[in-house]
Amino acid sequence: MSETSRRPIGVFDSGIGGLTVVAEIIKQLPAEEIVYFGDTARLPYGPKSEATVMQFAIQDTEFLLSHHVKCVVVACNTASSVAIRELTNRFDLPVIGVIAPGALAAVSSTLIGKVGVIGTEGTIASHAYERELRALDREIEVIEVSCPLFVPLAEEGWTDREVSLVIAHEYLTPLRDAGVDVVVLGCTHYPILKGTIGKVFGPTVRLIDSAEETAREVSERLSSLGLAREPGGTPEHHFFVSDVPHRFKEQAERFLGGPLPNVSVVRVDEFVKE
Ligand code: DGL
Repeated sequence: MSETSRRPIGVFDSGIGGLTVVAEIIKQLPAEEIVYFGDTARLPYGPKSEATVMQFAIQDTEFLLSHHVKCVVVACNTASSVAIRELTNRFDLPVIGVIAPGALAAVSSTLIGKVGVIGTEGTIASHAYERELRALDREIEVIEVSCPLFVPLAEEGWTDREVSLVIAHEYLTPLRDAGVDVVVLGCTHYPILKGTIGKVFGPTVRLIDSAEETAREVSERLSSLGLAREPGGTPEHHFFVSDVPHRFKEQAERFLGGPLPNVSVVRVDEFVKE
């Protein structure tokens, strides 16, 4: 096993949503060590301008590089939408976003060529999914809807509340009525609300969880580049956040789906280069 393959996988998100991706990477790649950075001091990224999200994404990547990661997973749809190309050009290591894996899964799943995409305002405004889907299939029909209230609902853990279902109906009924047969959950918070979202669409519409698809892409990329760790051993994961908001542990554990190991706080002004 090469020195590089023993290095950790770097993962970043605006906060805790990316922990749904971490949970999937741990499930699919149990031998890999992870360094996670959640930019909790500067979240949410969803409503922010493209230029600001780009700047944050570069800084978050630089932080992970300082921990000698072998690849960077952008576990945030908003950051992936605007920054993947720039990060790939700027940094000399594999950068994996959540958009391409989700789009590929959607194209392979749709039987009628009609796909819905839901995400933050930033993700939907960028049309990154639409571009990616059309690059894979020029004929595909794409309907994009932003659902900004889903982020606080997921953080609140209101997965089974009547109010969540009412909001989901409000956002998603036009998409359901448009007759899509596949919907991409284009935000790392949304897998938490999969049950509620599924109730609006019913069993005939397939929901694509970008966390699962991204973990699969990470696995394939590492293997093809000879960067996968050998199986066995118990890796130690490291979690960093730029702030510890109220009820952080409770919320983070919901996203991770289990107990959160020690979390270190790193102030943004400590690692941002002026
Ligand atoms: N995790 C972000 C995403 O996937 C949503 C939260 C935010 O707006 O920062 O787009």
